[in-house]
Amino acid sequence: MKYSYLTQDPLAQASIELILKWQDKSGAYVASPTFSQYGYAWLRDGAFCALAMHNSGHPESASKFNSWVGSTVLKYEDLFIQARLRLEDGRAVLPECAPPTRFHMDGSVEIDHHEVWPNYQLDGYGTWLSILFQTEEEYSPSLITAVRVVADFLALAWRNPSYDCWEEGGDKLHGSTLLAVAGGLKAAAEIIDNDLYEKEFRKILEVIERDFVVDGHFGKHADDLRVDASLAWASLPHAVYDPLHPLVRGTLEVIKNDLRTPTGGVKRYIGDTYYGGGDWVLLEGLLAWNEAKIGNRDFWDKSRQWISSIADSDFLLPEQILDHVQCPTMVLPWEKRWGSSAHPLLWSHAMYLLMLHEGAKQEWI
Ligand code: BGC
Repeated sequence: MKYSYLTQDPLAQASIELILKWQDKSGAYVASPTFSQYGYAWLRDGAFCALAMHNSGHPESASKFNSWVGSTVLKYEDLFIQARLRLEDGRAVLPECAPPTRFHMDGSVEIDHHEVWPNYQLDGYGTWLSILFQTEEEYSPSLITAVRVVADFLALAWRNPSYDCWEEGGDKLHGSTLLAVAGGLKAAAEIIDNDLYEKEFRKILEVIERDFVVDGHFGKHADDLRVDASLAWASLPHAVYDPLHPLVRGTLEVIKNDLRTPTGGVKRYIGDTYYGGGDWVLLEGLLAWNEAKIGNRDFWDKSRQWISSIADSDFLLPEQILDHVQCPTMVLPWEKRWGSSAHPLLWSHAMYLLMLHEGAKQEWI
């Protein structure tokens, strides 16, 4: 793959520089260097940053992240073991003792929460496994051990509720969490050749297709089968379904109709009130990545133009655009609580790089 398209695109250049700049020496990527609540390394955000770096000519950055996750998992292996013991006993995992969704940059878990964070989320671990498989050519013995620790935990934990990727709904099973865990177990089965992971992957697909499908698309969770934009993960990055699978296409069409602002930007789900529930940049990038995969150049071109148009004069991208929020009365309360919404957000930049890379594979740039 040639990377000349990156040097011709100032936003791509700035995206690479930003992500590399805010990758800690440990290997962790900070979610946002400036937003009051995002000075941590989330596995979810970080895994997308790692894939973006790998696909943009910086595989060493992805490897550093993978090693950081691996060593962090092994440092806290006890949390995974305790969680598994509870699950094997039919008891719920205690969120305060669960493998966390985010860490300090040095890989330590948060002890003093200024706000208790809904830390029990499974999708980030699944996403890490999926992306590890796509970014590493060789696995060190300690990385293999970490894969086993994470996959053994996910193979049990997916049946029980956890918070979703938007850190909400801790009492439910979520469609996109199941897709991420399925993707992670499928990847783990490739890395380690383990029948259990393969078997659990198949069981998750059965549950998704039995309980999380309505009118030809995936649904957010069993009590609300409307779409959530994160369901677009089914094919990318998780390769759980083919990009042309009818359920993937059906889901993308409903997301485009119900959650996308025609000029650009995608709501997370109907009813979102976080900073009013605006248009997320990374979700626009996710749709454009998917559309590029099946050759829809028109959509990809427009998305690229929109994302470039909302970057600020330093080529920095925010988490969301608040021009068309769903719930205007909920902007101010969040601004008072945490300040202006995140800007820049590394994950937004990662998704821009991922959609560009797909366009470059199609030879559009
Ligand atoms: C989002 C998460 C994200 C985190 C850090 C939260 O607001 O809901 O998906 O991982 O921010 O970017």
